[in-house]
Amino acid sequence: MALIRMAYASEATFSPQPSEAGVEPNVARILMVSRRNNPRRGIVGGLYYGNNQFFQYLEGDEDAIRDVYDVIRKDTRHRNVKTLIMEPLSEVTFSNWTMKYVPMAEDVSRLLKSEGLDRFEPAKFSDRMCEKMIGLIRNASETGGYGNRVAMGTAGPVGEVFTPGVRYGLVAAGVSLVAALVIGGVLLL
Ligand SMILES: Cc1cc2nc3c(=O)[nH]c(=O)nc-3n(C[C@H](O)[C@H](O)[C@H](O)COP(=O)(O)O)c2cc1C
Repeated sequence: MALIRMAYASEATFSPQPSEAGVEPNVARILMVSRRNNPRRGIVGGLYYGNNQFFQYLEGDEDAIRDVYDVIRKDTRHRNVKTLIMEPLSEVTFSNWTMKYVPMAEDVSRLLKSEGLDRFEPAKFSDRMCEKMIGLIRNASETGGYGNRVAMGTAGPVGEVFTPGVRYGLVAAGVSLVAALVIGGVLLL
């Protein structure tokens, strides 16, 4: 099996809609289909959406990647698809991860600022910038992640038990419980 990795930039053709559970609905649908299809094809990677533009990074078997890329390129939800990277890979670096949302918007803004860029325009990314984006996606996926106000997604662990929304709910419930115990304790004193 010949492994390859690839990245592309494209422009969304839809106008961003109010987000549902932190993710732009069109992007949420793309992530849902990718989550369903990519693991079956042994494809891993990440998708970032910002400034109505996409940056997608994929790793996997060459035939599988070329097939899915053929489909993706024809998708009318984006245009001006520009291949940024397409090259052989010795081993998969995103193993065990499938599509997932991560809170990366701030990291990306920080990265853009550090590179003197004022907006997310992946079609103009240099090789170095592409690698930095991939690094951000990879690191974000390693530390896990939660939903975000900005729609985005990347590789996530297969078979994760809780969705980001449920995780937020559990954390909120935990914080409320501790607060109630503290207040109760103070009132009893
Ligand atoms: C920016 C973008 C990224 C996409 N990424 C993937 C992907 O990684 N995997 C995938 O199967 N489909 C992806 N799609 C969706 C495909 O274009 C296509 O709609 C889908 O593969 C059809 O799947 P189905 O035949 O199972 O319905 C993407 C679409 C867009 C616009």
